[in-house]
Amino acid sequence: MSRDFSFDRIAPVYDKLSYLAFRGSVTRAQRYFLSTIPPQSNVLIVGGGNGDILIDLLERVVPAHITYVEASVAMMHRAKRKITGYRQTNSNLSLPTITFIQGTERDVDSTKMYQVAITNFVLDMYQGSSLDGMMQRIDSLLSEDAVWLFTDFRYSSRLMNRIWQKPLAQFMYIFFHFTANISVQALPNYDSHFRKVGWDEKQHQSFFGDFISSNIYTRTKQISQRDFSSKNR
Ligand SMILES: C[S@@+](CC[C@H](N)C(=O)[O-])C[C@H]1O[C@@H](n2cnc3c(N)ncnc32)[C@H](O)[C@@H]1O
Repeated sequence: MSRDFSFDRIAPVYDKLSYLAFRGSVTRAQRYFLSTIPPQSNVLIVGGGNGDILIDLLERVVPAHITYVEASVAMMHRAKRKITGYRQTNSNLSLPTITFIQGTERDVDSTKMYQVAITNFVLDMYQGSSLDGMMQRIDSLLSEDAVWLFTDFRYSSRLMNRIWQKPLAQFMYIFFHFTANISVQALPNYDSHFRKVGWDEKQHQSFFGDFISSNIYTRTKQISQRDFSSKNR
């Protein structure tokens, strides 16, 4: 998709709308795998939105450093405000440094190496070669043993669920077309895009009737190496 989208207009109500529409499942899904992040990791968050993910992360793990990348000025402003408040009320804690980048993954210093990437409800804004390009860029910033936490809307494998999920996804895309100028119209096949950049799903947990999926991906190489060594034990 073209990068002409902007979440600035919707930023003030985004969290409330998402909470009301999905009865808190969006938040629960985003939190689900956070505590699996190894302590002292360098964490890259792309498209973090209003910043709740930062607080959720800091309450569960102690990363060495966080880089927070967000395209929307208004979303970024809110995220910074939330973290300033959090630092003030938790001044007794030693919190990691956070680098805020108002931009996209392309603006991240390519000499940096991360052990964790978090992309929540952002890959669904892309498709085709734009999605591949974005994922390749994130992949290039991640170490060999990195984990990629990814939470997003996804069609269920069950037909009965897909019957209501497809129109709901279409409604959401129309809504975001008018409010944020998003041009994508259908959810991508994430697995095939992850496979192209050399990543495979290791674990997942479903929410909201299978429409929201929280996932841990690792490099395909890592999985095959593990299989190989367990077979040779
Ligand atoms: C649908 S919102 C989700 C926000 C947040 N992850 C959440 O779940 O509440 C998508 C966010 O990703 C941001 N975004 C989209 N593409 C991006 C990119 N390539 N780099 C950084 N931010 C991006 C948008 O500005 C928007 O704030």
